[in-house]
Amino acid sequence: MPGPTDLDEAALAAHYAYPDGLAAPYVRVNFVASADGAVTVDGRSRGLGGPADRRVFGRLRRLAEVVLVGAGTVRAEDYRGARRPTVGRDLPPPIAVVTGSADLDPGARLFTDTAVPPIVLTLASAPAERRERLAAAGADVVVLDRLTPDALLGELGARGLHRVLCEGGPGLFGELLAADAVDELCLTVSPLLAGGDAGRIARGPAGTPARPLSLVGVAHEDGTLLLRYLRDAHIG
Ligand SMILES: NC(=O)c1ccc[n+]([C@@H]2O[C@H](COP(=O)([O-])OP(=O)(O)OC[C@H]3O[C@@H](n4cnc5c(N)ncnc54)[C@H](OP(=O)(O)O)[C@@H]3O)[C@@H](O)[C@H]2O)c1
Repeated sequence: MPGPTDLDEAALAAHYAYPDGLAAPYVRVNFVASADGAVTVDGRSRGLGGPADRRVFGRLRRLAEVVLVGAGTVRAEDYRGARRPTVGRDLPPPIAVVTGSADLDPGARLFTDTAVPPIVLTLASAPAERRERLAAAGADVVVLDRLTPDALLGELGARGLHRVLCEGGPGLFGELLAADAVDELCLTVSPLLAGGDAGRIARGPAGTPARPLSLVGVAHEDGTLLLRYLRDAHIG
């Protein structure tokens, strides 16, 4: 496992490489939390991450073919398009947003500050005028029958987008966990106690079975702990 001094770009790229030869979506989830498990400070993740987390965040994006994120996160964090191209490609990965309501601001940075069209994964029950406004703002609006993990990943897989990076939030992560659709968790633990009423990194249906993980990577820098876990099914 890499030690605290092994966080240069080449080491990060090797450490976080996706499995070779993927024929279907592989779901890596990335979160940052405080030492007491808070997923936000003042309603956003920004107060949690330091330089090491930001470097890992950027590196994970560069390895991904698509960034999958829930609409709650896009709204809270004022998401914009990924900046840097995916390694080996000319363009950054698109942001794919899951939204049952299509309640996104067409003037938001997600649509106005991006090198590639965002993908909006939504339902026919979302008001048609919202869907049309997002399409007019440049989004690739996809109406699915359901927004289950199967349906979401089926759509990404059909587009050949196999290296999936899910950046949350807790609601989407909870749905993916309930469906046992998560292959990997990259978790940054920040040297902070947040207290307050923040949630934790997953929020899903009661009765979701606990899933065993294997810890395959540990690094730390300036007190920030960078953990990488795989679902046990992927070991060996
Ligand atoms: N610390 C971190 O690393 C981190 C990472 C990400 C987010 N966050 C924080 O987490 C908070 C947001 O999390 P969240 O859990 O509220 O939101 P979220 O998981 O980002 O998004 C939830 C929304 O996604 C849509 N959605 C997801 N799954 C769906 C499904 N199966 N069917 C229909 N719609 C679905 C719905 O959008 P509609 O309402 O549009 O229908 C739902 O309201 C923010 O405060 C953000 O700052 C922290």
